[in-house]
Amino acid sequence: MRVDRTIEVAPSPSPPWAGPPGISFSPALVERLLEEFSEPGDVVLDPFVGFGTTMVVADRLGRRGVGVELLDERVEHVRGLVARPADVHRADARDLATLGLPRADASLSSPPYMTRTGHPEDPLDGYRSHFAGGDGYERHLADLVAVYEAVATQLVPGGPVLIDVATLRVDGEVTDLAGDLARAIDGRGGPLALEEAIEVAGEEPPSWMVADVVLVCRASASARG
Ligand SMILES: C[S@@+](CC[C@H](N)C(=O)[O-])C[C@H]1O[C@@H](n2cnc3c(N)ncnc32)[C@H](O)[C@@H]1O
Repeated sequence: MRVDRTIEVAPSPSPPWAGPPGISFSPALVERLLEEFSEPGDVVLDPFVGFGTTMVVADRLGRRGVGVELLDERVEHVRGLVARPADVHRADARDLATLGLPRADASLSSPPYMTRTGHPEDPLDGYRSHFAGGDGYERHLADLVAVYEAVATQLVPGGPVLIDVATLRVDGEVTDLAGDLARAIDGRGGPLALEEAIEVAGEEPPSWMVADVVLVCRASASARG
């Protein structure tokens, strides 16, 4: 996909709270992005908390992390790491608009990934159910757009929605999830507008990752109606 700029993030060891390799953010990347796109005191929303990197680094930088995670064990794990455990919500991000979350100033997350083909499991159901029919990838993109549009409606007007997503190569097949998600978001005229794509360099990527890209989107002024 076309990128607008590249940022260098120094390689760092996996943090003690991280899950299996390749799932969690590098804390250095989160730090870099929160420094650029948020201010001390800001509320930072992560709709896909995982092992909690956004929320832990937000605490360290004097922001308030608020997050949503589907899996009970990850919710409990992250509640044990952060300053405000009640800000870790055990919920489905597809229901974000109904959760009564506080208004946020920025959002930073990495969604669950899937390949274009050979992937019947639904990532947004914790890979526990299968897509009906053969259109899982397009369905996943549509579900992600809906989640991120709901995120935009939680944000102050103009607030940044940062989505860390990759181009994947699995069994020789390339899935440009970053580019496909960018195209699915771009030009819809909804509450979310794509501003730029930043390539992340400097880290040793997992073998299945061709490129690591942060999509920078903005909540439109009318997002909250
Ligand atoms: C790529 S991981 C995020 C990793 C995180 N950035 C970190 O540093 O640990 C995506 C997370 O989204 C969660 N997830 C998947 N579907 C979800 C849903 N529908 N609602 C909320 N969380 C979901 C997964 O359980 C997983 O923990």
